[in-house]
Amino acid sequence: MVGKNEVLEAIRSRRSIRKFKSQQIGRDELDAVLEAGTFAPTGGGAQSPVIVAVQKPDVVEELVKMNAKVLGSGGNPYYGAPTIVVVLASPKKWATYVEDGSCVLENMMLAAYSLGLGSCWINRERQMFDSPEGKALLKGWGIGEDFVGVGAIALGYPDCALPAAAERKDGYIIKI
Ligand SMILES: Cc1cc2nc3c(=O)[nH]c(=O)nc-3n(C[C@H](O)[C@H](O)[C@H](O)COP(=O)(O)O)c2cc1C
Repeated sequence: MVGKNEVLEAIRSRRSIRKFKSQQIGRDELDAVLEAGTFAPTGGGAQSPVIVAVQKPDVVEELVKMNAKVLGSGGNPYYGAPTIVVVLASPKKWATYVEDGSCVLENMMLAAYSLGLGSCWINRERQMFDSPEGKALLKGWGIGEDFVGVGAIALGYPDCALPAAAERKDGYIIKI
């Protein structure tokens, strides 16, 4: 029988958070989340992704506008989170770049939850960083044009209760 286990408990309990306090997270908390991302497994051990942590309000605002434009909405797709962590990866570096970036994102969300932070995976970075504005941002960040957006997490102190998990669907697991 599997006993009490903090990792399994975090995996079961983590939920997407969509309401954040405006107060910025601590530097040590951010660093712990980012480091967890760097320890994700990657195809071939190639460490194909790069992680960009954005806290400068004007750049956060730029990402909000770019994402909303792709979404076709006037709202804030990052739910007002004070930190946005973008994960990009290059198909030129390794064929599993999307899977690699996804592992990085999940590691960071679990690390965030373990520290009492809220996070939510936010989509559309692929289109954002394929656009001329996205390419300009990459250039400014010193990241090659071959990098594509895999995803991002909205990160901050939660300003809501932890939502309940949806029931796990029947047939999720097949044992042969
Ligand atoms: C690939 C991917 C893309 C997602 N994109 C968004 C998004 O753009 N906006 C959002 O609010 N949530 C997004 N989510 C979060 C999911 O909606 C959420 O994980 C799902 O509803 C299950 O809820 P939970 O994370 O609380 O278990 C995304 C999740 C994944 C894995």
